[in-house]
Amino acid sequence: YEKGTASPSAKDLVFEVKARPGGPLDTPHLAASTPSFSEPAAVRNAASPPPSSLQESKTTTPTSGEARRKATVLFGSNAGASEQMANEIARFVAAHGEFSVNVATLDEAATTNIAATDVLLVATSTYNGMPPDNAKAFLPSLSVSEKIKKGSLEGVSFAVFGLGNSQWHTTYMQYPREVDLALQEAGATRLVDMGAADMDGTTVEDSFEAWLSSLGTALGASSTEGVAAALEAESARLEEEASKLQVVDEVPKGRILFETAADALAGANEIIDKLLAKGVDASDEVIKELAKDRIHPLRVHQAPRELCTPGCGRSVSHVTLQLTTKTDQEPAYRAGDHLEILPCNSSDLVSMALDALGIAPEAPVAWHLGRGTRRQARGAHQAFATKPVLEPLYIKARDVMGFFPDLAAPPSKKCVAKIAEHASGCPKAIAELAALSKDAERFSATMADVSLAELLARYRGRVQLDLGLFVALAKPMAPRFYSISSSPSSPSDDVLTLTVARVSYVTKTGRVHRGLASSLLGDAQPGEGNILGAVRRMTSGFCVPEDASAPLLLVGPGTGLAPMMAFLHERRARRASGETLGKAVLFFGCRSDDDYLYKDELAGMLKDGTLTSLHVALSRTSGVQKVYVQDLIAANAKEVWSLMRDPSCRVFVCGDARSMAPSVRRAFIDAAHSAGGMSVSSAESFVGSMTYIEDVWAG
Ligand SMILES: Cc1cc2nc3c(=O)[nH]c(=O)nc-3n(C[C@H](O)[C@H](O)[C@H](O)COP(=O)(O)OP(=O)(O)OC[C@H]3O[C@@H](n4cnc5c(N)ncnc54)[C@H](O)[C@@H]3O)c2cc1C
Ligand SMILES: Cc1cc2nc3c(=O)[nH]c(=O)nc-3n(C[C@H](O)[C@H](O)[C@H](O)COP(=O)(O)O)c2cc1C
Repeated sequence: YEKGTASPSAKDLVFEVKARPGGPLDTPHLAASTPSFSEPAAVRNAASPPPSSLQESKTTTPTSGEARRKATVLFGSNAGASEQMANEIARFVAAHGEFSVNVATLDEAATTNIAATDVLLVATSTYNGMPPDNAKAFLPSLSVSEKIKKGSLEGVSFAVFGLGNSQWHTTYMQYPREVDLALQEAGATRLVDMGAADMDGTTVEDSFEAWLSSLGTALGASSTEGVAAALEAESARLEEEASKLQVVDEVPKGRILFETAADALAGANEIIDKLLAKGVDASDEVIKELAKDRIHPLRVHQAPRELCTPGCGRSVSHVTLQLTTKTDQEPAYRAGDHLEILPCNSSDLVSMALDALGIAPEAPVAWHLGRGTRRQARGAHQAFATKPVLEPLYIKARDVMGFFPDLAAPPSKKCVAKIAEHASGCPKAIAELAALSKDAERFSATMADVSLAELLARYRGRVQLDLGLFVALAKPMAPRFYSISSSPSSPSDDVLTLTVARVSYVTKTGRVHRGLASSLLGDAQPGEGNILGAVRRMTSGFCVPEDASAPLLLVGPGTGLAPMMAFLHERRARRASGETLGKAVLFFGCRSDDDYLYKDELAGMLKDGTLTSLHVALSRTSGVQKVYVQDLIAANAKEVWSLMRDPSCRVFVCGDARSMAPSVRRAFIDAAHSAGGMSVSSAESFVGSMTYIEDVWAG
């Protein structure tokens, strides 16, 4: 207070704010870590010897690079897997010692002279057949460059590695293939055939290593050198990954051990929010990345409602969830969006794996969020961006085992080899395991149906593997996607619904496998907060058109009906607010009346004009011939054509990618031919020129 005054004044009042000891914000290191945000993330240099983390290496010119050949590694990646692989490729190439290596995004390369490099290596993923967000400018830059069109990439050697997921059957690896072809057409010389890793399978690492090894040979290394460099790159990766999770004896004083994964996630999100609020440069790429892909706990708003007749052999749940955080999107979701869910392993597999490794379920684990680079496949590892250096969070071993590795997936050959390496006490069985990991044919015949947890259980107590290393070796738990079946106008912009078909089957080892995410969602009860997820938007334009009068042709058999329900809810709300709706025709398919989803709701929508007409294909009704949606499109070709011919008409198709989507497309072409009087080839180009958007997957 000011001397001489009667009462204290607030003039020089200073507040000192301290985090509550043990609270989630009790992270005294934060101030020290902040500067790492301002490091440049642009073109990274990886001149040999390889740095431990290319992500953090600064943009410098190679000191002794003059005599070396130049290699450029480019990546296109939304979720970090291709970026991770690009870094491994860079390490691998740098390990040869002959190259100076730069790593950059494909978009960064769009504005540089890639013809000046000797070797161009690309790792990229694809989203609905399109480029990832940081790769959109690359192909256009090739096609507009006259120089390149004329073959000025002639002196450049190239190789492409694609990441994709065969669940997206029709657009599997589409963008990596386009890049591969474009580079060839631009005159570059192919070093090795395009490599491909299917994230839906268990051979991602094997495919990548095989490609790296042939790349090494093509670059002039002996195969032994190639293998050695691949091994070196792999062991650096494993070490980095393993260091992220460490079982500790006790949680340091003043820190908390999170009771559940959802609590840990909420705590970490809070830390990240505070960091953002601290005013770190908002244009910083890392911050943007941090804010972009975050996962949040979701609340179960209502108990799930069964949509099929009990006992009919199918179960589909109407699940209602509430978003617990405001996003910068207004509203928080849009009809046509997806919800990404991080599932948890079943408790029996979690117990099996922890027991086999001798780790107590309640053991505290230090989770170093800020270490290393991002891992392949999105999952719990990437619930938070991993670049900022934060103090560890403390979580329980059961949550690590629940959310990080995919325990139900069969182990990779490399994982089996490591288990054999760390096992003791049964030499014959271990030798057999080691031999198996080296014999691809026998491996796939023997291991394809054995889950990682079951394999471990066979060696219970005999495998000395750290939790961190085990997680690094396992297939990361992949997120699951669900089409949102509500619209922000119904029920509300923070409550959404999903339409989830339960998965359940008996594995060849006799274990009952209940689909991880579908069971989690189907069983979720109000008050439970263990569902982790986030709204994701498709780049393909799968959303209700702005113009409400545009005619819609909607095809959604089975749970493919989900986004169509969202569209219809949106239309109903628009109609109520006075907009004039164009026609909307829905083709739905199910086996019989027993799994006729949302039958009453659809009847109501037909009655109030939200839906103009509804065609339902029944594929398994006794005494009646099997009918599929494509058959009904053919049978109603005149009506279909009357909408298709309108230039503002949109076609939306959702559901099975393998056979439904191609058959439906064929049926639309046939309708243009039969009812529109076009030749088959004109009908094909007509459908090709329509706004025809698919959201399809292969389960
Ligand atoms: C873009 C997109 C949108 C989607 N939208 C929806 C949606 O709206 N509604 C919906 O229900 N699903 C949807 N899915 C599918 C969903 O994401 C999950 O794949 C599905 O729910 C299964 O996940 P799960 O974790 O329950 O099963 P998992 O534990 O992953 O088990 C499924 C796995 O088991 C295998 N399997 C299944 N049956 C058998 C069997 N008899 N024998 C051997 N193996 C078998 C399958 O091949 C699959 O690999 C969508 C998928 C994508 C990619
Ligand atoms: C919304 C979405 C759409 C996808 N579409 C495709 C696709 O069309 N074709 C494909 O092969 N893979 C597809 N994938 C799989 C991704 O390419 C794959 O997960 C890849 O590993 C992502 O790599 P990234 O982390 O480098 O972005 C899709 C994944 C998501 C989440």
